[in-house]
Amino acid sequence: MAEKRDLYAEVDDYIAGLFAPEDEALKAALQAMRNAGLPDIQVSPVQGKLLHMLAKLTEASAILEIGTLGGYSTIWLARALLPGGRLITLEKEPRFADLAQASIARAGLADRVSIRVGPALDALAQLEKEGAGPFDFVFIDADKPPYAEYFDWSLKLSRPGALIVADNVVRSGRVAEPGAAEDPAVAGVMRMNTAIASNPAVEAVILQTVGMKGHDGFAIARVKPHR
Ligand code: SAH
Ligand code: DHB
Ligand code: MG
Repeated sequence: MAEKRDLYAEVDDYIAGLFAPEDEALKAALQAMRNAGLPDIQVSPVQGKLLHMLAKLTEASAILEIGTLGGYSTIWLARALLPGGRLITLEKEPRFADLAQASIARAGLADRVSIRVGPALDALAQLEKEGAGPFDFVFIDADKPPYAEYFDWSLKLSRPGALIVADNVVRSGRVAEPGAAEDPAVAGVMRMNTAIASNPAVEAVILQTVGMKGHDGFAIARVKPHR
């Protein structure tokens, strides 16, 4: 398995070299995260490019992100916004949010991006109260136990035809292993995956991913247009 993991990472680099080269702003965001000792759990360049393309395919002018960390995925996503579009990203940790804000500003995206600091479930309720959205694209990537609740909120705040993407829904294959539900993070993503699969309001699939981030997956759900 170790050899295979290395090959996957090498191919990931190959794909990134062709299709997801990082510019100065993305490199600086990663460096700032490293310097500040943030966890190395941001999406890979290729995953960032995929999110960017999916957001563009929805012609997004309103994007919601749940889980900012250092703003790395935020930059990929905000760059997909239509002119005049806005991205709201939710982050619990003030220190991460401050660092992300600086990296987003360095990327020239501060006019389009706002970070809401605090627990995401509170921020989501607040967004609904404010009548925010509807969002064209949502990226779910915060703590895993409440993933199903994040999905419900995302659905509530999205327009027909919107795309909702959730990271880390395969967890090194643990979702398919016996006893998986004993890990609250794995149980959380499994609960969301099951809920998505049986929700008639969306059409969805999970795509496994391999590469520099190991073995994981994206859930991709399209909010059905009203009929
Ligand atoms: N999307 C980022 C990575 C996010 S990592 C990227 O790919 O670049 C997950 C983030 O969710 C962490 O920064 C963590 O602090 C944040 N988080 C965890 N629990 C949260 C909660 N309840 N509300 C909001 N943010 C939370
Ligand atoms: C973890 C969280 C993530 O969003 C991720 O992409 C990888 C790992 C974690 O909490 O371990
Ligand atoms: Mg993630």
